[in-house]
Amino acid sequence: MEEKSFLKQKIDKESPNRNIVPVTTSIEVDGKLSVGGCSIEELVNKYDTPLYILDEITLRKSCKAYKNALEKYYPGKSLPIYASKANSSIFMSNLVSSEGLGLDAVSEGELLTALKGGVPNEKIVFHGNNKSDKEIEFAVRNNIKIIVDNDYDLKRLEKISNLLNHDLEIMIRFTPGIECHTHEYIRTGSFDSKFGFGIEYLNTLFAKISGTKYLKLKGLHAHIGSQIFELEPHKDLGEIMVKVILAAKKFGHNIDELNVGGGLGIKYTESDDPPSIDEWVKTISSSVVEACKKNNLEFPTLMCEPGRSIVSTAGITIYKIGAFKEIPGIRTYLSVDGGMSDNPRPITYQSNYSACLVNNPFNIDSKNKYTVAGKHCESGDVLFKEIELADCKTGDLICVFGTGAYNISMSSNYNRIPRPAALLVHEGEAEIIQKRESPFDLLKYDVLPDRFIKRN
Ligand SMILES: Cc1ncc(COP(=O)(O)O)c(C=O)c1O
Repeated sequence: MEEKSFLKQKIDKESPNRNIVPVTTSIEVDGKLSVGGCSIEELVNKYDTPLYILDEITLRKSCKAYKNALEKYYPGKSLPIYASKANSSIFMSNLVSSEGLGLDAVSEGELLTALKGGVPNEKIVFHGNNKSDKEIEFAVRNNIKIIVDNDYDLKRLEKISNLLNHDLEIMIRFTPGIECHTHEYIRTGSFDSKFGFGIEYLNTLFAKISGTKYLKLKGLHAHIGSQIFELEPHKDLGEIMVKVILAAKKFGHNIDELNVGGGLGIKYTESDDPPSIDEWVKTISSSVVEACKKNNLEFPTLMCEPGRSIVSTAGITIYKIGAFKEIPGIRTYLSVDGGMSDNPRPITYQSNYSACLVNNPFNIDSKNKYTVAGKHCESGDVLFKEIELADCKTGDLICVFGTGAYNISMSSNYNRIPRPAALLVHEGEAEIIQKRESPFDLLKYDVLPDRFIKRN
């Protein structure tokens, strides 16, 4: 019998990314799972499944951990910026903003969501390797700082600043050539990346920016990848970025903002052992501080852009078990009422998660290995290739942990399956932060051309 020992581990309340479960997770006297003071079973009775749940305390602790660590270790000004691609909503924008964080957006939709959620425009940065003209105009009109990713961005911003006839502050994104051990789809800092200027091109770029009338190079950005457990790459990144500030000075640019991106990993399974938020911030801060001191440079404003490590551990997804299919001597499939449309990470990145039964979380009397399959018409729609669970039956609930990031934000309507509702739980109260879609919602944008209507 494999006990779900992660449920018994001491919770790190300061750095939620080091836990598999939200910090408020508990097993009630009746032996059932609760989060944020709410019984999962009761939430399901009221809100149905699949169900995304976010725990407010875990979210706030993660935000505070970044803010406090930057204040503790970095002597200059600093700003943690939430990478909203991890989970973008009016609620998330509002929450991170209430904790004093900024926000990074990569589309007009994410920008709009941030503004509607109350993030001040001066705390928003706009990324993207292929921004549309409309998106750039939206950002400029709303005084949002643009991170220039390539020459195409630069040309258009120069044109806009000439038309406006006034200065426009920009940041540039570059690839520092740092390799880190993570999935190739989420590795972005090596030379072969679609994002940012190559480091070897920066002198040319600095000269180009100097040749513009109104573009002011304010900051540098680099992001080396996601779900990273090593600290060394970020130490190297701090040093490289300070060198780039010095190189830019020779072209008359006084860069005073350094954005080191995100990337800190989280604990999805028991074998994952990410550093704490405090250690990560300490590493990057010390590296920038040392390099600045060595080169007699004033401390730039230090920004970082965590996504996953802010929101992932706060999130869980609850599914209901439906069909079982036993293939003797091979495996038993257990199918749930969601899958790749609400969590595309397993099929995209072969991601692993931890899970338990809601009504038998410790896995007492576990003797069964299952393959947990989603309900989509795709053989690869499998959430767990093999997981031990206690005896379970149709109608039982499974809780998957660590689903706060890159689940709802990457969700789809594949097979015309409506997206689940999302709830916020806090001190025994649950509130809806995203309504459940219905199949009728999915018809909203379908149009039957007139001549087809007549034919019918
Ligand atoms: C530019 C940028 N910043 C920040 C992040 C957030 O990374 P993470 O969620 O790993 O912290 C990403 C993720 O892809 C990114 O592309």
